[in-house]
Amino acid sequence: MKAKKLKIWSEQDYLNWVKQETALKEKYFAMYSTVWDAVVTNPNLMTIPFDDHMVHRGDGVFDNSLVVNGKVYLLEEHLDRIIRSATAIGIKIPLTKEQMREIILETIAITGKRDCIARFWISRGTGGFSVYPDESPRGHFYLIITSFPSYPARYYEEGLTVVTSPFPLRQPFTPQVKSCNYLSNAMMEFFAHNVGVDSAIAIDSEGYLTEGSNKNVAIVTKDKIFKYPRLEKILHGTMLKRAIHFANQLKEQGILKDVVSTDIPISEAYNSSEMMFFSTTLIVAPIVKYDGITIGDGKPGEIYRKLREMFKKDMTENDEVLTPVDYD
Ligand SMILES: Cc1ncc(COP(=O)(O)O)c(C=O)c1O
Repeated sequence: MKAKKLKIWSEQDYLNWVKQETALKEKYFAMYSTVWDAVVTNPNLMTIPFDDHMVHRGDGVFDNSLVVNGKVYLLEEHLDRIIRSATAIGIKIPLTKEQMREIILETIAITGKRDCIARFWISRGTGGFSVYPDESPRGHFYLIITSFPSYPARYYEEGLTVVTSPFPLRQPFTPQVKSCNYLSNAMMEFFAHNVGVDSAIAIDSEGYLTEGSNKNVAIVTKDKIFKYPRLEKILHGTMLKRAIHFANQLKEQGILKDVVSTDIPISEAYNSSEMMFFSTTLIVAPIVKYDGITIGDGKPGEIYRKLREMFKKDMTENDEVLTPVDYD
């Protein structure tokens, strides 16, 4: 018989490992889980059960909310979206919206962090390793508060370079379900980085723009029309929604001629004066090169700059979309 080489840990061995110092505490501040109905702050304890179908089948949904200077930006929108996503795939949501809101706000308060991000999931739940959802009596809610997302400054100052993705961005049911199955999305970024650009945009079967791996895309035509893809083909991004609101204000000011949701052929994007990405973590960033073609004059444009200022103001001053955290 072959000699066994694997160590078998006692509970004490495991606890010794848990108690080890970890550099992860610099970026992962606190986690709540309905498995424990409690919060942990040691990253070595921030785990989820292996038999949760979200782990082994990607059967779960997620969302994220930014915390800016002690206030959560667009929290209601993100809670509504995760509930819509979970409901659409029949997950038995373990908490009410109000309970999720309270848990998120309290867990942020526990960290004491004023600038961070709340990332949360509703999983199918535990029960076994099959694909059958019936195996899980109810879902679980997991929340982690992590450091504020950061991207290279050049994304905002010089703009991103992107390519058309060879992978169709396909979510399991509808693009509106923000599911944990992001393999195509990950492959888009893998492809983009392999060909030496910053990111990628997926197109639909007819060759129209859809979205980025974790961001929405919009263009500004040379005659100042703000265009974004048809909403039925893309995730309803909270930041795109906000950008549409701001773009309509720019229309009222006569800076934009119109704001429209429509099919956008790649060729129209190549000929646009501005292209940009929107997402919770990126906020808004200009795209200056697409498939090797320079967009506009190859520099971040006027509409991008105006939208960026409008976002900054919204995220710091607009109490209608900011939920304060009670840190005491
Ligand atoms: C596929 C996809 N599209 C768009 C977005 C942008 O959405 P939001 O602005 O709500 O972050 C995301 C973000 O998670 C995404 O995953």
